[in-house]
Amino acid sequence: MAEGFTVLILAAGWGTRMHSSVPKVLHPVCGKPMVEWVIDAARAAGADQVVCITRPGDGVAEGLPDDVTIAEQTEGEGTGAAVLAARDHLTGDRPAVVLSGDHPLLAAKEIADLVETHEREGAVATMLTTESLDPAGYGRVVRGEDGSVERIVETKYTEGVPPEELAIREVNLGTYAFDPVELVGALDRVALENDELYLTGVVPILREQGGRIAAHVTDDPSGALGINDRSQLMEAEELAQRRILAEHARAGVTFQSPQTTRVEAGVEIGADTVIAPGCNFTGATRIGTGARVGPYVNTIDSAIGDGATVIQAYMVEAEVHDNATVGPYAYLRPGAIIREGAKIGTFVEVKNSDIGRGAKVPHLSYVGDAEVGDEANLGASTITANYDGRRKHRTKVGKRAKISVHTTLVAPVDVGEGAYTGAGSAITEDIPDGALGIARPRQENVEGYGKRVEEEQE
Ligand code: UD1
Ligand code: CA
Repeated sequence: MAEGFTVLILAAGWGTRMHSSVPKVLHPVCGKPMVEWVIDAARAAGADQVVCITRPGDGVAEGLPDDVTIAEQTEGEGTGAAVLAARDHLTGDRPAVVLSGDHPLLAAKEIADLVETHEREGAVATMLTTESLDPAGYGRVVRGEDGSVERIVETKYTEGVPPEELAIREVNLGTYAFDPVELVGALDRVALENDELYLTGVVPILREQGGRIAAHVTDDPSGALGINDRSQLMEAEELAQRRILAEHARAGVTFQSPQTTRVEAGVEIGADTVIAPGCNFTGATRIGTGARVGPYVNTIDSAIGDGATVIQAYMVEAEVHDNATVGPYAYLRPGAIIREGAKIGTFVEVKNSDIGRGAKVPHLSYVGDAEVGDEANLGASTITANYDGRRKHRTKVGKRAKISVHTTLVAPVDVGEGAYTGAGSAITEDIPDGALGIARPRQENVEGYGKRVEEEQE
């Protein structure tokens, strides 16, 4: 890969075509803001300095990696004005690469190849172009008789563009390598068009000064895709998703239904894991090896261990450890830790609770703010009453304890190791190790009751 160049990322446009209060380049593609895709590609291509051009107070700079330099566009409109906002970084004789923050899927290799072409051809400017996109809205590349690039025709506002130029299929992708000093000199001479300073305006000026303008043509339409509106954002999302799934698949993950599976950028999945239809893995989700996940599992910043099985579940900041099983129909909320080999069954909600190794909560339960010991069993309809209307309280269930069906554990309460509860109990007092706690009215049988009712009806 090429080494030692500066990358400017233009990210200060208004993005009006998005109709959004969020700056365009912060819109996520597969969970990762567009501009971060571009930063990552620049780094992977070998950039040693990345300068991001933003507007004061637009929030784009927040959340970017610390090693990204910010330059604020405080004056002028247009891509040329954006580049001039970083003029202090446009020095020396190494190439300056200009990228658009709205081309999220540009591959690192395209950037490296562009720099390589630029240097090989001894060009003053080299632009990335393609013929494999619908050219509408892009700048068309007008080539001279000798085949070299003469100028770029902007077609965003199509009035006045001659039909033969509108017919051109080759478009400018807003990705360039420049000689930095020549670039600044030419930009200072570009005239405004539609009140904007177009970066593409430097092309005829550099050419007139005797510089060579090269083009590096790509046929990868996904990398080329520019995002100006949400229909293009949707296209980018699909293309990026394909790319992410293919990468996991090559590393050993089976997707039974790629069309219905969504995996965000940055999610980790181990080899030999099988993903059934209808899954959505988001944020910092990590899934281990040999796991079976789905159908219909949604995870947000959660972890699923090796060999675990999770079916029809919604997980938020929760951990399912190795060989544990979850679902169908489980809701694991923040702080739910399901330890090795434990089982969370059907219609079970767990929040801020540690479920010990091999413990079971198989049916219809709510476990909140609890610590459940290894191998304990919580029968159907076990409920922790963890909230007294003002504060949350903790419940502790000892190792191997057996909570019988329909038990309410009124916290704070402590059930000892190997202890039992009677079915239908509301447990308000601690139960010692090995003891049985029953807390329900005694049953009373009224003899002959049925007969008496019959006689009264006669
Ligand atoms: C630009 C190119 C066009 C090319 C297309 C590729 C120009 C004049 N035109 O058009 O030839 O085909 O990209 O997608 O350059 N930006 C700023 N400050 C500004 C204006 C824009 O930082 O004042 C940034 C935007 O955030 C965006 C990038 O520059 O990331 C491109 O701007 P945009 O308005 O989308 O340019 P296009 O009309 O798409
Ligand atoms: Ca654009």
